Amino acid sequence: MKIAYALCSLAVAASASCIHSGSLARRSDGVVEANSYTYTETNGPLNWYGLDAEANSACATGKHQSPIVIKTQEIDYVTPGSLSFNVPATTGAKFENLGSGLEVVLTNGSLAVGSKKYTLAQFHFHTPSEHRVNDEYYPMEVHFVFQNEDSETAVVGFFFQLSEQGYSVPLFDSIFDHIYDIAEPGTYTKTGAMDFTSLTHHLRGHGIYQYTGSLTTPPCTEGVSWYLSTEPLPLNVQAYNKVKKVLKFNARYTQNALGEDNLLEVAAKNY
Ligand SMILES: *[C@@H]1O[C@H](CO)[C@@H](O)[C@H](O)[C@H]1NC(C)=O
Ligand SMILES: [Zn+2]
Repeated sequence: MKIAYALCSLAVAASASCIHSGSLARRSDGVVEANSYTYTETNGPLNWYGLDAEANSACATGKHQSPIVIKTQEIDYVTPGSLSFNVPATTGAKFENLGSGLEVVLTNGSLAVGSKKYTLAQFHFHTPSEHRVNDEYYPMEVHFVFQNEDSETAVVGFFFQLSEQGYSVPLFDSIFDHIYDIAEPGTYTKTGAMDFTSLTHHLRGHGIYQYTGSLTTPPCTEGVSWYLSTEPLPLNVQAYNKVKKVLKFNARYTQNALGEDNLLEVAAKNY
């Protein structure tokens, strides 16, 4: 996942404040700033710590980092009814290519779990999936990022599985129909109308994995409450190929089991 706190490109960092509480920096000409971290080579996940050792220290030292392999015999489950996911229908929202990912900026939405209430900040996509289930990956994963007044983060995630019948969820067609408008990092467009009731029903109708981990992008902050639907959503092949063409690859490598030493520390010790 990525959060509402973005690293900016160096050129921008020199000239403007780069810390945002809402979403990304938006220049006055309306172009969005692409993130400086990537999924490849020197700016990729193995070296996110090196991009800013102070801000990103959890990426290299945290012991509760995401994503993980979800072991279905060991992970906790929450009963579907205990999670209230409520995102009202909208006629459209801003859809951005951040270089590091594709994000829909929608803040009308809430999540309630027990006594905790959160507000939606944005949702975004990963291909392939970041989490794996009993080691298997999925072609895509979506993360709805919520935050509360205490700056706590909760993420509701769904996996996508390619549909052999060509099914898809109309909500996502309304988004992916516009994907070629934002083929270039740093550009944005608008989604079509979106209705989230099918997602709410999907969440209510299936089990939900739960664990406490981290952001999967810099600064890899821990204490993030993860809720992942156990049942993947259907995705048709045409939509998948379109998304992959633009999104390319943006999944952080699988982290060590919860509570175990950070893999970067393990690897450095053994070098
Ligand atoms: C969010 O909700 C407000 C108030 O109901 C509405 O005016 C606004 O259009 C909504 N935003 C989107 C993107 O749907
Ligand atoms: Zn994410």
